[in-house]
Amino acid sequence: MSLLEVRNLTTAFATERGEVTAIEDVSFSLEAGEILGIVGESGSGKSVTALTIMGLLPRPPARVVAGGVWFDGQELTALSDRRMERVRGSGISMVFQEPMTSLNPVLTIGEQIMETLRAHGSYGASEQRRRAVEMLDRVRIPSAAARLGDYPHQLSGGQRQRVMIAIALACQPRLLIADEPTTALDVTIQAQVLDLLMDLRDELGMAVIVITHNMGVIAETADRVMVMYAGRVVEQAPVEALFDRPLHPYTAGLLACVPSLEHETARLVAIPGSLPEPARRPPGCRFAPRCARRVEACVAGLPPLLPRAPGHEAACIRVGEA
Ligand SMILES: Nc1ncnc2c1ncn2[C@@H]1O[C@H](COP(=O)(O)OP(=O)(O)O)[C@@H](O)[C@H]1O
Ligand code: SF4
Ligand SMILES: [Mg+2]
Repeated sequence: MSLLEVRNLTTAFATERGEVTAIEDVSFSLEAGEILGIVGESGSGKSVTALTIMGLLPRPPARVVAGGVWFDGQELTALSDRRMERVRGSGISMVFQEPMTSLNPVLTIGEQIMETLRAHGSYGASEQRRRAVEMLDRVRIPSAAARLGDYPHQLSGGQRQRVMIAIALACQPRLLIADEPTTALDVTIQAQVLDLLMDLRDELGMAVIVITHNMGVIAETADRVMVMYAGRVVEQAPVEALFDRPLHPYTAGLLACVPSLEHETARLVAIPGSLPEPARRPPGCRFAPRCARRVEACVAGLPPLLPRAPGHEAACIRVGEA
């Protein structure tokens, strides 16, 4: 069994207009040391996927309607909050987009790292300090020992994101989920943070899920890619295959818009229209209203995600046509 197996995962939210599914039938697996990129426009279900895996969605309004998450063979969606907390402490960690709001402004970064260490192990004070310095070193914060007493506002945006990664690493996770880890950063700093994630994967053998709306970020970091649209997986492939031969028209559209990290502003110009709200999804293929290849049969039913080449799946009824 893989380190992480997500099978047919469906998560819904109770809303004023009834229950809506944010993600549907999401399946993927991840091996130790592998980097999976999850990509898709804002609202496609990337964060809900991550938060369901982490058990961090408040229930209610959220509810896992179907499917499950197996981490190291253990099913997570059925665990009690207390047992899930233990998994989060020592198995899976998450880094969020906004390091400014995730760090506590009134505590030094040293205190925040040591607090995490205390929560996950019984370290003495000097051992905590030694390990906090080691964590800051590991995320390449220069003169780490001298920076322990710094407050978050004394650091740059890139350094704050590194501190967030250090905190996530403090409990030695085997899986790190980074949700839009570089979106708030400028291009040069983005590249440095992505390099850091790849180095950490190499050094620690961690599996990493990088969530982004930016295909350039995927190209830089991922081994494998999962493309999401309107709550569903529309394509999954090794990174080279996806970039060389995208099978789903949505993936092709994403690639046409974002050739590299530097072209962030050119994002999505080539795909007309916008992502449907969960309560207003069209019948059949959800991408149909925006798809240049649409035919009548596309709206007859949801196109199944089918294998098209080794390790390459796509959910489009027109794949394989000339
Ligand atoms: N607490 C919530 N209540 C209702 N709907 C939600 C909630 N959180 C997320 N959603 C819906 O789930 C869908 C997926 O959201 P999300 O996973 O955050 O997208 P992404 O991370 O890809 O931008 C969106 O349509 C969003 O409106
Ligand atoms: S199933 Fe039809 S509408 Fe959907 S992506 Fe394929 S061609 Fe486009
Ligand atoms: Mg998100």
